[in-house]
Amino acid sequence: MTFENILVNKEDGLAIVTINRPKKLNALNKSTIRELHIAFKDLEANKSVKTIVLTGSGDKAFVAGADISEFAHFNESEGADLARKGQEDLFNLVENLATPVIAAVNGFALGGGLELAMSCHFRVASDNAKMGLPEVSLGVIPGYGGTQRLPQLIGKGKAMELIMTAEMIYADKALDYGLVNYVVTQEELLPLCYKLAGKIINNSSVAIAAAIKAINAGFSTTGYQVEIDTFGACFATEDFKEGTSAFLEKRKANFPKT
Ligand code: COA
Repeated sequence: MTFENILVNKEDGLAIVTINRPKKLNALNKSTIRELHIAFKDLEANKSVKTIVLTGSGDKAFVAGADISEFAHFNESEGADLARKGQEDLFNLVENLATPVIAAVNGFALGGGLELAMSCHFRVASDNAKMGLPEVSLGVIPGYGGTQRLPQLIGKGKAMELIMTAEMIYADKALDYGLVNYVVTQEELLPLCYKLAGKIINNSSVAIAAAIKAINAGFSTTGYQVEIDTFGACFATEDFKEGTSAFLEKRKANFPKT
């Protein structure tokens, strides 16, 4: 199958999926999410693929977030549907895939981009990577599982701070927080992922799939539904209109004071 927004390469038990919209910093639009859904389903069904590496095209971004231009005009129920469908089609799919997925974070991983990296089974970053969940600066909250997976990975207090301040952290801090497992130069990023994949490939795929299932079972929570509902509710607010308009108009948001 040919894709417009992603590239899929397979070699010796390894598949590399590259999100390929570099001019938009690989922002996740609807069709990219759909293509990723199809690609991950196909790769999971392909028994010769033992490990998947997910990365972004170019040297600037892994994924700079969900495509803001696509949802800025949504109402509350469209907002909730966006989060629900995205979680089902991509983020939960990746997290629960029987085949291990390593995120190679090669630049900005913001909003939906960091949420996608967090859905992967573990993360490796290049030293130019910047990560964050800036949604509250747009008048919304993370809607693709970020409110759940960030505290799981780095702890509640640090996650609260990152989400509330909307700040980006650099790769060294992400390593310190345990958000990524390794930080290397951009040139070393994919070779290190291939080396880690090589170690995984030698082990039992059946046992690894069982381990993924058991590890994820320990993190099942009703928080994802609360996230979908509250994400949708944000779409009915003046803050959301102002936040998304400000981004698209390339200006700073001026949120209502009351
Ligand atoms: N959605 C839609 N378009 C996006 C995007 C996103 N999340 N992130 C970047 N882009 C687009 C920009 O609009 C721009 O498009 P244009 O050239 O047609 O104007 C292009 O990608 C390049 O981005 P630009 O902002 O010019 O690059 P920069 O180096 O100045 O800034 C970022 C990089 C990542 C800091 C900035 O793009 C940004 O803040 N992006 C949004 C991050 C975000 O809030 N993500 C969460 C979404 S829920």
